[in-house]
Amino acid sequence: MTHQYDTVRPVNWQNGQLHLLDQRKLPQEQTVMKLENASNVAQAIKDMVVRGAPAIGITAAYGVVLAAKAAYAIAPDSWQTVIESDLQQLAQARPTAVNLVWALEQMKACFAKITGNPVPVLLEEAKRIQQEDIEANYRMGDLGAALLPSSCRVLTHCNAGALATGGYGTALGVIRSAYAAGKITQIYADETRPWLQGARLTAWELLQDNMPVTLLADSVAATLMLQKRVDWVIVGSDRITANGDVANKIGTYSLAVLARQHGIKFMVVAPTSTVDMNLTEGSQIVIEERAMEEVLTIGGQPIAASGAEAWNPAFDVTPAALVDAIVTEKCVVEQPTLERMAAMMKN
Ligand code: MRU
Repeated sequence: MTHQYDTVRPVNWQNGQLHLLDQRKLPQEQTVMKLENASNVAQAIKDMVVRGAPAIGITAAYGVVLAAKAAYAIAPDSWQTVIESDLQQLAQARPTAVNLVWALEQMKACFAKITGNPVPVLLEEAKRIQQEDIEANYRMGDLGAALLPSSCRVLTHCNAGALATGGYGTALGVIRSAYAAGKITQIYADETRPWLQGARLTAWELLQDNMPVTLLADSVAATLMLQKRVDWVIVGSDRITANGDVANKIGTYSLAVLARQHGIKFMVVAPTSTVDMNLTEGSQIVIEERAMEEVLTIGGQPIAASGAEAWNPAFDVTPAALVDAIVTEKCVVEQPTLERMAAMMKN
């Protein structure tokens, strides 16, 4: 299949700096934040300058390059010890997406073979992680698109697109590939309160590629399904446990329950770097809780009655039983179970 709709790249290494497209400012402004130290990289992940599980991992990998550069300059013989605190800061930037620790482990695995200046080896590794993520997305795009019928209408949640990955996207990668193949007639995107990743980011990146998008307030999904206006729900993931339970943006679980009730298919698209075989089930996943201001305000403007409190879990867990297909770069796991997930990972 072709991968013709592919213009956005959120993370770039240029002139010895890490360039991040500031996703807090989209779609109004396209601003690039230029970073030169690991501590600022960790802060940028925390603050959602960059977000989305694979993109966070890739960013952290480049953060390790910056950490090693600084540490080697002051302590050429013990840089690996000096960067320990930076590594910890990066690992703790956000808790739910396993891609973050996965990428840091990949980087650490290179340490043993480094003699002398670590920067060239680590930079090559960070670039490899990004490039392999893009290639995994192309592959998942093909595998996922093949599952869709012709004239398919799809609904996605949050942003699991180019902006959330090295490029091309997971859920949006499938939608891009299927659209290029002429299989998709309608793309619905949930606005995704409270951060509005759907309204601000998914809509923006699809329009960058001249793909049509119809936004929905999050509460519209039930009516959309009842009126038979959608065929597949397609989402990404932040962490998938060994049994196939799926953590993703808050609201994903509601969509899965609704989809099952209305006989609509539910697809999760995620690379194997999102699969955490160390956790047996979704209840073990740490769900990030963010500040209540994110719910009480929009764009910095208060929207709630003064004095109201809010609860703001950023993710939820969809049980494997509600998932029709998990698409990874290795293969499609239909009706995921512990055994099928293990077989896919060994593949
Ligand atoms: O809080 P965010 O914006 O980082 O949440 C992102 C999501 O939930 C995505 O769906 C997920 O990371 C998959 S990205 C390919």
